Amino acid sequence: MITPQTIEQIKSRIDIIDVVGEYVKLKKRGANYLGLCPFHNEKTPSFTVSPAKELYKCFGCGKSGNTITFLMEHDKMSYVEALKWLATRYNVEVEETESTPEQKQLQQAADSLYIINNFAQKFFEEKLFESEEGQNIALSYLKERGFREDIIRKFQIGYNPGNRDDLTKALLQNQFNRELLPKTGLVVVRNETELIDNYRGRIIFPIHNNTGKIIGFGARVIGKADKAPKYINTPENEIYVKSKVLYGSYFARMAIDKANECLLVEGYTDVVSLHQAGIENVVASGGTSLTTDQLRIVKKYSNNLTIIYDGDAAGIKAALRGLDMALEEGLNVKLVLIPDKEDPDSYVNKVGAAAFQDFIAKNKKDFILFQLEVMLKDAGNDVTKKSEVVNQVADTLSKINKAEDFTKLQDYIKQCSSLLKIDEGGLTNLVNKLKRDKIAKDEKKLPFEDANYYLQQSQQPEDVLDDNFLLLNQDEAHEKNVLRVLLEYGLRNWDEQKTMAQYIFEELEQFRFDNLQLESLFNEYKNWYDQGLQPDAKSFLYHPDDAVRSLVVSITVFPHELSQKWDERLEGMNIVNRDTSHYDVDMSISIFKLRKIRKLIEENQRDIEHAKYEDFVTLHQIHKHLKSMESDITKKFGTVIIK
Ligand code: GTP
Ligand code: MN
Repeated sequence: MITPQTIEQIKSRIDIIDVVGEYVKLKKRGANYLGLCPFHNEKTPSFTVSPAKELYKCFGCGKSGNTITFLMEHDKMSYVEALKWLATRYNVEVEETESTPEQKQLQQAADSLYIINNFAQKFFEEKLFESEEGQNIALSYLKERGFREDIIRKFQIGYNPGNRDDLTKALLQNQFNRELLPKTGLVVVRNETELIDNYRGRIIFPIHNNTGKIIGFGARVIGKADKAPKYINTPENEIYVKSKVLYGSYFARMAIDKANECLLVEGYTDVVSLHQAGIENVVASGGTSLTTDQLRIVKKYSNNLTIIYDGDAAGIKAALRGLDMALEEGLNVKLVLIPDKEDPDSYVNKVGAAAFQDFIAKNKKDFILFQLEVMLKDAGNDVTKKSEVVNQVADTLSKINKAEDFTKLQDYIKQCSSLLKIDEGGLTNLVNKLKRDKIAKDEKKLPFEDANYYLQQSQQPEDVLDDNFLLLNQDEAHEKNVLRVLLEYGLRNWDEQKTMAQYIFEELEQFRFDNLQLESLFNEYKNWYDQGLQPDAKSFLYHPDDAVRSLVVSITVFPHELSQKWDERLEGMNIVNRDTSHYDVDMSISIFKLRKIRKLIEENQRDIEHAKYEDFVTLHQIHKHLKSMESDITKKFGTVIIK
């Protein structure tokens, strides 16, 4: 676990505008910044970032959070990755405390895999450029194919020599864990115990994740692949999950964002060649059909996906399989086929960058219409087949389900019905029916827990606003309110002797929270405070626990669970320029205490009813004591605050 000290350091240096601003164009609006939400598709900006609160919130899709959650959501980093990323960026040394043995093992395994990959990449690169074998066999081959040195270096391409265990030996000499090596795919076990290189005599393409770390490799034979497979790829492990990777995404993300278009090709060499030609908004799928996770990577940067395939049937079929998911993700998918048995790599080498881009722009076909044309050609004059095509098209169109895509859908229906030579209204009805079926099916799939949850929600008694500006039936809101004032004002002075936090600790010493999460947040705050740190809401926005982070967001962003009257009263005081924090703190803890005391009184009264004579005196004393505590509090505020 990362220590609170480290979190405090990062927090004190972080600038949310700086971090978020790298992904979203932000414009200043008063105290806040405004931009187009990166989490959903929108034309008018509703994504608001507050530098003061260190929070963002989108009023369109409701996503909210802080710098950490932003990196987690947007760049798919883990919590620890995000924190470490920020630590590196802001020059903070990361201190970690012991984590659980299981956590440790997992993290260590992942860390070790990264380290091994990193080592291997350096080894391969050195062999490619420095060794005679590498220069003669591999570098010459790459140069022959037209790859420039700067591009080879940029993509960190390398060479694994042809001997049986050059890399293995180097890894073992450097004390890497023997057991872990086969997991990386760099090494295989031969004759049960012997370790040898897996990618002997191959050119090595490192595969990077979105943050630029090497998660795996693609290893290509040199020249024609006759006997051996052309490529060997890393097996799936803790850090390499094929379905979540797009080759080149790390190098392409800025360019995709800028061009507002992502080009998708099949192969590693296609990506590298296009980069070399200055076309950088390109990623590769590795020749398999697209997964939802891969589409999400694209969607983080642009809604426009252009798939560039060579004209062979296998490639097209593979690409077509990803289509429905792309539609569900709200992507605009276009397709371009490269002519004459070329692939993007060879074609760009042949015609040059400008002609390549021109060709793409002129030959982009809408994916749905393209698919329809292919199917229609297949069906020919066969009536049964043709009606299958109609159903298929309607099914595809029914996947366009985002409200903002409505005009797009209408357009498609028009064009498809004309290609199919059927009535537009008929196709509309069919699409609508399929949509309804799908919704009905989804509703049935609502998980049992969810259903229960909604039931419970609707059975909650309605909130009643009482005259003294407090909601009844809202114990939790009052507990939250105590944490709100603690997080907001804790570090200010209550008087000359103590801070607000100290005052709150003293006042609440004998009290507990009913909500265990709030209780532990309270205790954790106290713990940090006692260690001499300066905890506030922001500190907890960087907390390792998801639940704590969202709790703090709900406490600080939406403090209005209580009542408007509370706010109005505070604002009223503010108008006469008085600091309302004392009142706010006192009021919050008083009501918290009062509710607890009243509960105790009720419980005590129940006990009295059933008490034996000898206990009665004690219970009655307790009653009197509680009552006097109650009246102390109510006197302070002049009225009976709550029923
Ligand atoms: P070049 O032929 O050198 O231009 O490579 P390429 O990347 O263009 O290869 P190709 O178009 O044949 O294949 C596209 C992608 O499919 C490759 O980049 C690999 O990711 C994957 N692929 C191709 N052949 C194999 C193979 O034999 N095994 C595996 N696992 N993947 C392959
Ligand atoms: Mn190729």
